[in-house]
Amino acid sequence: MKFFIDTANLSQIKEAQDLGVLDGVTTNPSLMAKEGIVGQENVLKHYVDICNIVTGDVSAEVIATDYKGIIAEGEMLAALHKQIVVKVPMIKEGIKAIKYFSSKGIRTNCTLVFSAGQAILAAKAGATYLSPFIGRIDDMNQDGMELIKQIVLIYKNYGYKTQVLAASIRSSMHIVKCAEAGADVATCPLSAILDLLKHPLTDIGLAKFLADHKKSEEKALVK
Ligand code: G3P
Repeated sequence: MKFFIDTANLSQIKEAQDLGVLDGVTTNPSLMAKEGIVGQENVLKHYVDICNIVTGDVSAEVIATDYKGIIAEGEMLAALHKQIVVKVPMIKEGIKAIKYFSSKGIRTNCTLVFSAGQAILAAKAGATYLSPFIGRIDDMNQDGMELIKQIVLIYKNYGYKTQVLAASIRSSMHIVKCAEAGADVATCPLSAILDLLKHPLTDIGLAKFLADHKKSEEKALVK
């Protein structure tokens, strides 16, 4: 399973990249706004800055919601850097645009996906990635992971090439469950990635190893 980081924060992206396990980045307009990136020039520069930190795919989301606007914006984003993947919302105009981008060899990430029916449409249109939002489904007292399992099965049944990019991940448990379900990618906050490191027995075990090592070194000095 590939690991993407879901942020527009450059220092978090660097930290994840330095860990050596990062395969890409996803952003969205809310994440860009959170970093205070405003104005088209600054937004485009920020995407290039992200591409220069990581080696993998970087999703950049269109703001337009009409077909012509999505095409124009998507082509501009794709021309920015070879790592850019155009993120397109799951709406009628978006599906038409994904079909167009697919025919032009422009890679896409179909976002705001909350049902298996939407996942089938995006795959048929030729989306490179599909982003089902696990956490936001959980927020509605439904099981986001069930949707991931359902989509993975459907794509397998028909050999769809679209990669399942599990999004809106809130915890390290979500990441593990995505791996069990066979998601191709999990895009996560840095905290969820770092939480994968944690286990109390690891900490206790390491403390004991180091204490035993220290004791035996001290004994050797006394002799
Ligand atoms: O990038 C899309 C998605 O990951 C958003 O997550 O936490 O805002 O539901 P969240």
